[in-house]
Amino acid sequence: MQPIVSDSISITKIQTSKRSKVDFDNLVFGQVFTDHMFECDFVDGQWQAPKIVPYGPISLDPSAKVFHYGQAIFEGMKAFRDDKDKIWLFRPDQNIQRFNKSALRMSIPEFPEALFLEALSALVRLDAAWVPKGIGSSLYIRPFAIATEEGVSASPSKKYKFMILLSPAQSYYSGKVRVQIMEKYSRAANGGVGYAKTAGNYAAQFYPTALANQEGFQQVIWTDADKHEFLEEAGTMNLFFRINDTLITAPTGDRILDGVTRKSILTLAIDHHIATEERPITVTELLVAQQEGSLKEIFGAGTAAIVSPVYEFGFQGKVYALPESEDTFALKFKKYLNDIQYNLAPDLHQWRYEVK
Ligand code: COI
Repeated sequence: MQPIVSDSISITKIQTSKRSKVDFDNLVFGQVFTDHMFECDFVDGQWQAPKIVPYGPISLDPSAKVFHYGQAIFEGMKAFRDDKDKIWLFRPDQNIQRFNKSALRMSIPEFPEALFLEALSALVRLDAAWVPKGIGSSLYIRPFAIATEEGVSASPSKKYKFMILLSPAQSYYSGKVRVQIMEKYSRAANGGVGYAKTAGNYAAQFYPTALANQEGFQQVIWTDADKHEFLEEAGTMNLFFRINDTLITAPTGDRILDGVTRKSILTLAIDHHIATEERPITVTELLVAQQEGSLKEIFGAGTAAIVSPVYEFGFQGKVYALPESEDTFALKFKKYLNDIQYNLAPDLHQWRYEVK
């Protein structure tokens, strides 16, 4: 992707940075935001003048459609600081394209790709001092768009706000996670919005996940809405299952998010001669593999979580343990990804994008 040089974004800088008040050693994911944010409104059928302004509250009419019909989409991406203090985005083109796929599904006007990339670069450049150093630390980037038109008629909004926020972050899940295979509730259905990064997809998970939390599980493994046979996604992550030495992940489609980390792992697996299969995988297959001892690993993959190994899974009241090992695919892929993201390895696929 080529950088776009443009002076189209107006910038209003803060007077005094709040950075020195932040405890960078004890960051809680998504709680601290940088000094500035990007903002662009869609009015009269077009995106208006883009601007970067001091971070702060926005004002919306209480009847704005986002509050009533959930017309809202978002992305999650990260900026990384390397040991020479260069700052890199990871595959921003993929997030930008997925954002616009989500936009189409949710009747939100697409955001121009070139301006999106320019906005990311300009904002990260301005708040570059906030990109933390060290493997595992990064600047989480949250682009989103919401319907802002006043009025509660159930129809697509004619006004929208696109914004980008930045939040310094350490890893999302610390350590290994315990997950419960869900049988009652569903995340996504054929023809639905499961593949879109729309707000309601996440809201709908909160209650079932809270029930799983009460039983000591951090996350839920979603199964298909029809028969709850197929293993699909975990809360904020795509899922990988290692049976013997093959890595299996569910195919993307209507119901499953086309994760950037997921697709990067599939490519890295080819580079590192690890066999993969993108195919439906059933709960029964998982239980049989667990019993036979061929199930070696389960891990989640996502932007916030990167690679998150599962150490136990629950199903129908029973808990199944995964074997312990120092030599896991999860650790390998985490390292392969980190090496590229932090500029420690050659970028064979042109995934890094320097912010300069
Ligand atoms: C991401 O990994 O970017 C996510 O979407 C997770 C987020 C919901 C916290």
